[in-house]
Amino acid sequence: MAEDKKRIFSGMQPSGLITLGNYLGALNNWTKLQDDYDCLYCIVDMHAITVRQDPAKLRKQSRDLLTQYLAVGLDPEKNTIYYQSHVSQHAELGWILNCFTYMGELNRMTQFKDKCAKHADNINAGLYTYPSLMAADILLYQADLVPVGEDQRQHLELTRDIAQRFNGVYGDVFTVPEGYISKVGAKIMALQEPERKMSKSDENKNNTILLMDEPAVIMNKMKRAMTDSENEVRFAPEKPGISNLLGIYCAVTDTKMADAEREFANVGYGTFKTAVGEAVVAQLEPIQKRVHEIEADKAYLDAVIKNGAEKANYIATRTLSKVQKKVGFPPRIR
Ligand code: TYM
Repeated sequence: MAEDKKRIFSGMQPSGLITLGNYLGALNNWTKLQDDYDCLYCIVDMHAITVRQDPAKLRKQSRDLLTQYLAVGLDPEKNTIYYQSHVSQHAELGWILNCFTYMGELNRMTQFKDKCAKHADNINAGLYTYPSLMAADILLYQADLVPVGEDQRQHLELTRDIAQRFNGVYGDVFTVPEGYISKVGAKIMALQEPERKMSKSDENKNNTILLMDEPAVIMNKMKRAMTDSENEVRFAPEKPGISNLLGIYCAVTDTKMADAEREFANVGYGTFKTAVGEAVVAQLEPIQKRVHEIEADKAYLDAVIKNGAEKANYIATRTLSKVQKKVGFPPRIR
């Protein structure tokens, strides 16, 4: 692994089928960074169990997510791609960082509040301390940059606070990471309720476009996306539905907003939605094809899993040993 490159860490939960929001807010940006940075991309299965999961389904979703990482173009030779649960140092550092995270900080986390409202029957301690584990993910690898969507901003700020607090006590142990939140695609909204974000756990399937949705399904969901009564395609806060579709169009076609508005200046909403749907299909279809090719190659996937865990383990051990020493744990006798 190149030592002179800056390091990137990011991750995704295998808690459901991934959406166009996950792709545009994260995955698509990750592929653009892989040549210039030393990147670790994790499948954060330990985070996923903060919400009750079916074991067989979680295993399948984790493998599917790994396949999708590869299919969007993440190269396992250039990046370290691995399952969080295969590197136990995440849990160990997570515990230590719990002791450097205040309950007042955790109480303020909006994702915790949202999840409590959604899973009122299972408000567990893991859900509460989720942000300290996320801080451990990032700090374990001394990441400089963390490419995520807008919804992770608060967690990232807390990670920085925890790192600075720890460094304040023990010296420069952790790199204090910066967020990398792109201007386009960082907050893709639900198609039928564009005032809230597109989410893989949404019960209304028409709100989300999945990475693996077939073209006809994508076109159909687009057709049913919420618009407004104006019939004018332009980006404006009072037009959340149309603005969201414009944002999606710009992100998948790499078009500037002003150019997209010009392109659709004189067309009706029906034609506009068809164009957005077709652009999304054009982007996702080749990825879906690659997913099917890669998932058939079991030996290749297994090798990626094994190598990824080994590479991650090597870096993680270095940081964890340093932290354990700093906090005063006795050295191991070998
Ligand atoms: P997760 O699994 O919810 O989402 C994965 C990534 O997708 C982004 N994202 C979106 N971007 C744009 N529009 C949307 N509608 C949208 N929905 C999701 C997220 O911002 C994220 O980048 N806590 C994290 C996982 C995590 C992590 C980490 C990330 C655990 N440890 C360390 C970075 C670094 C999460 O739940 O992401």
